[in-house]
Parts: sequence; C-alpha cells; structure tokens
Amino acid sequence: MKTMSEEMLMPRPVRDSQSEMAELVLPNDANPLAALLGGRLMHWIDLAGAMAAHRHSRSYAVTASVDHIDFLVPVRVGDLVILKSSVNRVFQTSMEVGVKVFVENYIADTAQHVASAHLTFVAVDAQGNRLKVAPVIPETEEQQRRYDDAGRRREIRRAELERRRKARR
Ligand SMILES: CC(C)(COP(=O)(O)OP(=O)(O)OC[C@H]1O[C@@H](n2cnc3c(N)ncnc32)[C@H](O)[C@@H]1OP(=O)(O)O)[C@@H](O)C(=O)NCCC(=O)NCCS
Repeated sequence: MKTMSEEMLMPRPVRDSQSEMAELVLPNDANPLAALLGGRLMHWIDLAGAMAAHRHSRSYAVTASVDHIDFLVPVRVGDLVILKSSVNRVFQTSMEVGVKVFVENYIADTAQHVASAHLTFVAVDAQGNRLKVAPVIPETEEQQRRYDDAGRRREIRRAELERRRKARR
C-alpha cells in the first residue's frame, strides 16, 4: 500500500490540471472607454493559473513569477472572458502553468485569442514550507511541445534571475 506522500508524488497527466474560468466583463472591470483593465485581466490570469497548480500539486501554491503578457485585442464591457489553464511542466517544487485567454462575444457569436501567459507557482504547505511536486505527463503533441518549451523558458528565467541577483550585490 502507498503512503500518503508516495501517493502525492505519483505522476499525473496534464489533463488532470486543465481548468477553465469564465468572467463577464462588467463596468467596474473597465476603463472610462469601457475596455477591460489590463490589471483585472492579470488578476484573472493569476487565479486561473493557480487553479491548475492546485489541481496538479494537490497543495497550496504561491505565484513565484509571471512571464510577460501581450494583450492582443481589446476586451469590452459585456464580453465573456474565458481563461484556460494547465500545468506545462514540473521541476522540483515549482511548476510552469500556461494560461490562454479568449474573448467570446455571444451577440456576434465570435471568439478571439486575447492573451497568453506563463506563470511559475511554488507548492507550499500550510506553514509556507516548499513541497516537492509530482511529475506531469504530457499526453498529446501539443502538451509535449509545451513541456519542451517550458524547459527552455526555465533556463532563460534562471539566467535572468541570476543576472539580477548579481546586479543587486
Ligand atoms: C517563490 C518563493 C517561494 C521562492 O523561494 P526561494 O527561497 O527564493 O526559493 P529558491 O530560490 O530555492 O527556489 C525554489 C523554487 O522556486 C523557483 N523560483 C524561485 N524564484 C523564481 C522566479 N522568480 N521565477 C520562477 N521560478 C522561481 C526555483 O527555480 C525553485 O524551483 P524548483 O524547486 O522547482 O527547482 C519565494 O520567493 C516566495 O515566497 N515569494 C513570494 C510569493 C508570493 O507571495 N506570491 C504572491 C504574489 S505577492
């Protein structure tokens, strides 16, 4: 019989972490031109990313970093924003999560890609101690591509972190 910690570290497929969140854009989410505020979208991206991280790691998770976000098209009051997230790759205590954002206009029946982001979450226990995370298993070609790309992005992030650490000394 497996112990609780062995069970927690059993590899899990990407699909177990796939999450979807929907938000209707209301006036309070928008600027005076009735366009969605970038900061509100970033908040939703963080939440959607955290859902995938929690589902995969089965633990608490804190946001360690967010890679740059491009806002591709404006989103208007009344639009429906759909955020899709999943774990791309697990390292030791950290995991990269991808979030892809779409806007649906239910009157015009259209959907457009609005933004994408890669976030790194670190798994922690209730005391804030870091936890090892179970490996993730890519099952499709696209998941494998994201897995490979996540490895390359991690190297870039680590090099940049190191450069900034040295610059602070
Ligand atoms: C993220 C945090 C837990 C990292 O702790 P740390 O003591 O710097 O840890 P380490 O340098 O040993 O790194 C631990 C892991 O985090 C990763 N990590 C640390 N900083 C990172 C960054 N800026 N971007 C991506 N990954 C990062 C490391 O690569 C390592 O991953 P691994 O275990 O999978 O190899 C810590 O900085 C923290 O608690 N930050 C605040 C998080 C928070 O409050 N977020 C909410 C937003 S306010």
